[in-house]
Amino acid sequence: MKNIVILISGGGSNMAAIVRTAEREDWARRLGARVAAVVSNKADAGGLAFAREHGIATEVLDHKAYPSREAFDEALAAVIDRHAPTLVVLAGFMRILTPGFVQRYAGRLLNIHPSLLPAFNGLHTHQRAIEAGCRYAGATVHQVTAELDVGPILDQAVVPVLPGDTADTLAARVLTQEHLIYPRAVRRWLESQA
Ligand code: GAR
Repeated sequence: MKNIVILISGGGSNMAAIVRTAEREDWARRLGARVAAVVSNKADAGGLAFAREHGIATEVLDHKAYPSREAFDEALAAVIDRHAPTLVVLAGFMRILTPGFVQRYAGRLLNIHPSLLPAFNGLHTHQRAIEAGCRYAGATVHQVTAELDVGPILDQAVVPVLPGDTADTLAARVLTQEHLIYPRAVRRWLESQA
């Protein structure tokens, strides 16, 4: 069985899209894969309830309980490794990861970022795209490497920036596309390993 461990910090809509799409398109079964666990650094992350309702193991690890980034990442890796992951998926996991953590899962660590990388890495991507006068915005699925938001790009989706857009309206438009490209990138990654 190929175990997928998904890391979230918030609503978990990308995680839910991966779970739902894998069920609907039946590729988890076909590829011998399953979402084995959802791990959050926030106890109140909305996505945890969805995971529990779908019979997926959940784990919460509060980063504030650890003295350093390294200590948190070590504890996080120990939790993840309990689920013997083939693939680790960052889905709105709002923590910068240490090089040691990234190295441990090299080649099997994916992230989705709400911009057309390499433009607008980091935070507040939608506000920055609007302020820059971008006509198009989007999202990027990429492999995670030590440098933030820089790893090899696996997929992207483009949406228009419309007159009167706010960061929130643009984020909502981008998010609908994230829900299409992230499940697809996960499926393709699994197929590439088959
Ligand atoms: C998504 O828009 C994702 O691209 C972004 O957080 C949101 C999480 O939504 N990720 C980042 O900003 C990573 N730097 P979700 O919890 O509903 O999936």
